[in-house]
Amino acid sequence: MIRLLGRTSELETLERAVRQACEGSLALLQVEAETGLGKTRLLDELAAGLAGVRVGRATCSALEQHLPYVPLAAALRDALQGIELDSRQLRPLRRILPELSLSDPPQQFAEVDALEALVGLVAEQAPLVLLLDDLHWADPHTLAALSYLQRRGAGIPAAVVTAIRSEQAPPDRRVRRMRPELVVRLQPLSPAEVAPLGIPGLHDLTGGNPRFVLEAIANGNRPELSAAFSEMLLAQCRTEGALAYRLLLAVSTLVQPFEPEPLAIMLQVDLAKVVDELERLCERGILRIDGPGFRFRYQLLRGVLLANLSPARQRMLSQRLRAPDELDERRSALSIGAAPLNERGRPARMFEHGPAAGQTATWSSSPAAAGPVVPLTERELEVLHLVAAGKRNRDIADELYVTRDTIKKHVTHILDKLGAASRTQATARAYEIGLVG
Ligand SMILES: Nc1ncnc2c1ncn2[C@@H]1O[C@H](COP(=O)(O)OP(=O)(O)O)[C@@H](O)[C@H]1O
Ligand SMILES: [Mg+2]
Repeated sequence: MIRLLGRTSELETLERAVRQACEGSLALLQVEAETGLGKTRLLDELAAGLAGVRVGRATCSALEQHLPYVPLAAALRDALQGIELDSRQLRPLRRILPELSLSDPPQQFAEVDALEALVGLVAEQAPLVLLLDDLHWADPHTLAALSYLQRRGAGIPAAVVTAIRSEQAPPDRRVRRMRPELVVRLQPLSPAEVAPLGIPGLHDLTGGNPRFVLEAIANGNRPELSAAFSEMLLAQCRTEGALAYRLLLAVSTLVQPFEPEPLAIMLQVDLAKVVDELERLCERGILRIDGPGFRFRYQLLRGVLLANLSPARQRMLSQRLRAPDELDERRSALSIGAAPLNERGRPARMFEHGPAAGQTATWSSSPAAAGPVVPLTERELEVLHLVAAGKRNRDIADELYVTRDTIKKHVTHILDKLGAASRTQATARAYEIGLVG
């Protein structure tokens, strides 16, 4: 384990909130981030700094999701180690901690009695902090119990700190109905935060993802990944599906950022399908939007994919890109105007010349400014309609079942494409060119 990089303000915010809750009323606090950004590490650091407070910790597991209360029970056991409990008083708690009052005859208690007993126990043992990692895997009973604790927590000096992985918690998941008092969202580390490791190019390679940073420096000062870690990354890409994997292999050969059009040609796949898939890969945190195109979120993943290309595939892909004849042919088949090729043999700026017959992407054009013609994807058009209807990002995200961040990206993209500085301007422009109305 390397020393903690960055995260000073996140840790301070969490510590302050925990201390405040431990002097007042129970609070539910949450750390949210993608895999590898350091949620578990932040909980480690938080726990280490909480001297003098009783702390119980557990991790939820996908394999135990059907078992009621398992993570909550584990955290309670951890917190209450070595404490003699009055088992008779806590009888209803057997639903949560089955080892209590084993000698008593079995007796049925209502669930709410168990939850009331839980509130009683927490109050009695307070100040108490429960840390629940990977809450996206928690069983519904644990989530209900946390929510109940939060409801009944007035005047109980305690805190529950949870961590959830963004990719595993889409908006329609039950865990998203929790209403934490505080959410700390972790971002990748900045170049300055990675700099103390003194390895040139490390931030570019890893995108500031601590898991990647650690893997990259595991073999000393020259960033290099172990074969096992590369294999795992490839396996993760394969689980995205056959088309996604083919796309990812192909885009690893392109100059970044790349545009979807050459890809559609390279892979001989419908452009709309390519764009949909690229957008999905952005939502999965593998790619990200960059200007009018896309790029790998993590340079390191691109390297792993590139290294895994068979020479035959590499040859085939580069030939398809370099063959202007074939490009021209396919372009005219799509009835799209020819675009100039740059020195790499790629179209320097593709598809500037108007909507193509049969294209499913919607194209905007500015007759007045005669600026570049930029396609809006179907998704962006959907978002644009909702923006034009005056909806806020939060409402749009709920309506389309995606995260607010995704909507934010779509909106940025739409503004860029429409050359608009604000939502109002984008709406006006959309009416003007007939995209909505
Ligand atoms: N800020 C940090 N500084 C140094 N190492 C970190 C940092 N954040 C995470 N790590 C390390 O990176 C790896 C992945 O972090 P982890 O906390 O397991 O991520 P997550 O729980 O979000 O998937 C772990 O080995 C962890 O110790
Ligand atoms: Mg973790």
